[in-house]
Amino acid sequence: MRNRMVNPAMKPPFFLLFLLCSSHLVSSQRYNALFNFGDSLSDTGNVVLGGLPYGMTYFGHHTGRCSDGRLVIDFIAEGIGLPHLPPNTAKNANFNKGANFAFIAAPALPFDFYHERGLSKGLWVNASVHEQVDRFEKLLPSICGSPQDCKDFLSKSLVVVGEFGGNDYSTGIFGGWPLTKVSSFAPHVARAVAEGIERLIGLGAVDLIVPSVLPTGCLPLYLTLYSAKDAAEYGSRSGCLRRLNTLSWYHNAGLRRQIDRLQKKYPSVAIRYADMYAQIFDFAIDPLKYGFKAGALRTCCGAPGMHSYNFNLHAKCDQNGSTVCSDISAHVSWDGLHMTEAAHRIIAQGWLNGPYVNPPILSSSSS
Ligand SMILES: *[C@@H]1O[C@H](CO)[C@@H](O)[C@H](O)[C@H]1NC(C)=O
Ligand SMILES: *[C@@H]1O[C@H](CO)[C@@H](O)[C@H](O)[C@H]1NC(C)=O
Repeated sequence: MRNRMVNPAMKPPFFLLFLLCSSHLVSSQRYNALFNFGDSLSDTGNVVLGGLPYGMTYFGHHTGRCSDGRLVIDFIAEGIGLPHLPPNTAKNANFNKGANFAFIAAPALPFDFYHERGLSKGLWVNASVHEQVDRFEKLLPSICGSPQDCKDFLSKSLVVVGEFGGNDYSTGIFGGWPLTKVSSFAPHVARAVAEGIERLIGLGAVDLIVPSVLPTGCLPLYLTLYSAKDAAEYGSRSGCLRRLNTLSWYHNAGLRRQIDRLQKKYPSVAIRYADMYAQIFDFAIDPLKYGFKAGALRTCCGAPGMHSYNFNLHAKCDQNGSTVCSDISAHVSWDGLHMTEAAHRIIAQGWLNGPYVNPPILSSSSS
């Protein structure tokens, strides 16, 4: 919600009514539906693994979301006045206001890419960008009818493509490949995302948000498994692992080039980058500014491990031996890899109101 001029003399009930009405007016006119593609950062139930404490803060049970509560995409849906997205595999769900094609563990690239490189053992879901867009294409007629009707329908929808890439790089890293070699995936990953975007534009999408990958070197799981003796390996202010962040940064630079190229090719379509890398890096640099009293690098739901990040591969969140911190919203990291609802809320604010999506999602309603 953008700030509006509000007469301070107005009585609270009226003020509240005004806010509710205006947000309803803005959002319902702006977007008819929200569609999302991605991995565990945005899966809202296509894959449901494990159980509580996942979901404990908001839903009270495990919904498949990799967090204690809502994800960024949930806050985006709320911000534009739409319901939380049903996973596209949900039975008897109504997809008229959107659907979510994200799958936990989904890489951007297909099975064959990893199979050819001897890395396919590290994959356990076939849900690449192309496969997710295939599922979208199959579902569309049931939502909006003919291709032309669907173009009209999608011309009023918001489409979020990503984050993709985290699982591509982890497949190489956990497969034991050196980072220099893993970084050779980056042009392929960025191209796969770009091809997915072009297919979505072909189907009628005109308003797309494309999130970056996270700064991998700031995630407690990687900080624990790839700890380094040399202090120079760590960012002096962030405490994050430089080499892993360089890989993420390199991917994001390539992704931005693809977005710029597509933006020129499709001038009537808006393709906006969402800089999650910068957001989370900012959390690491200045956690207190955002209310993260526990810092950005300590896992909330976990167990003491080899280092100070409260992450232990043998007692992960929802496994025996792990506990939930008492102050969840003081943490960025929920389980060592995924973030808390508190972090997701702040990230979504940065997309809805800026500055991490430019122009912000809620600012362009009159353009
Ligand atoms: C993914 O697809 C490949 C063939 O394209 C198949 O061999 C593999 O078993 C599939 N993986 C899963 C998890 O379904
Ligand atoms: C967790 O602990 C319970 C009770 O101590 C035990 O019954 C169960 O088998 C353990 N589960 C795992 C995965 O170790």
